[in-house]
Amino acid sequence: MNQGSSSLQMPKQRLEGKVALVTGAASGIGEETVRLFADNGAFVVAADLQDELGLQVTASIGSKRVSYHHCDVRDEQQVEETVNYALQKYGSLDILFSNAGVLGSLSGILDLDLNEFDSTIATNVRGVAATIKHAARTMVARNIRGSIICTASVAACVGGTGPQAYTVSKHALVGLVRSACSELGAYGIRVNCVSPFGVATPLACSTFNLEPHQVEANSSSKANLKGIVLKARHVAEAALFLASDDSVYVSGHNLVVDGGFSVVKNSFSPI
Ligand SMILES: NC(=O)c1ccc[n+]([C@@H]2O[C@H](COP(=O)([O-])OP(=O)(O)OC[C@H]3O[C@@H](n4cnc5c(N)ncnc54)[C@H](O)[C@@H]3O)[C@@H](O)[C@H]2O)c1
Repeated sequence: MNQGSSSLQMPKQRLEGKVALVTGAASGIGEETVRLFADNGAFVVAADLQDELGLQVTASIGSKRVSYHHCDVRDEQQVEETVNYALQKYGSLDILFSNAGVLGSLSGILDLDLNEFDSTIATNVRGVAATIKHAARTMVARNIRGSIICTASVAACVGGTGPQAYTVSKHALVGLVRSACSELGAYGIRVNCVSPFGVATPLACSTFNLEPHQVEANSSSKANLKGIVLKARHVAEAALFLASDDSVYVSGHNLVVDGGFSVVKNSFSPI
């Protein structure tokens, strides 16, 4: 077989031999990213607190290159253990996709439940900070020029697109990314985030009590970019770009995956 025909047949392995840790991996965007990273040649530790679902995901992939590990990101010890698990299992940690998040209830500022506010921050900000801390320590200690990616949201760009605590948490997450980027650049570690618009995952469907097709119809009707429905796969593709060497000089960036929603008026008008 000549070189030309084999390169046409083989999909490009953009993460060949890299070791990735994905949190919130049992469902939605995290699950899709585990599959895409594995398809691109990575060894992947899929971490979540929904063990049954997480194990189903890794079993369905059916590869020794992918394994499940329990991790509640609110518990720093579990985060550290999960990073150590990745090291023991696959010998490195090149990529962190810190994606676990909660939407919380739909309360606004006038009826804000501060206990729930704390709970959202505990997962979406404190939990992500813990994952960056332990992944980055490992990368620095081993001289790994790693890539760290977090999942923020359009709610990090535009007020009123999510519940109060959620919007605050995702804005904070962009600050966390920029701050970690400023510190970790000295070690060659890149830190970025992806910010999706509404995707029909359990997080969106259960909070808004909508069927997946209703979430998709809602996003599509508000989106600027027409003729395409946002799927978890599109967000995973953005994470893959940031994880791979295709984005080797990109750091501190918030890659918004919203078809232009956050930068244009909701419906087109010439004036
Ligand atoms: N779906 C959307 O419309 C949307 C839009 C913008 C941003 N996001 C963000 O995308 C990320 C993934 O959400 P999704 O939409 O795929 O939802 P999802 O509910 O399908 O997945 C979230 C996963 O995170 C896990 N998780 C929650 N708390 C955790 C914790 N403390 N420790 C470990 N795992 C935990 C859940 O068990 C679940 O498997 C979240 O950070 C969310 O805020 C989602």
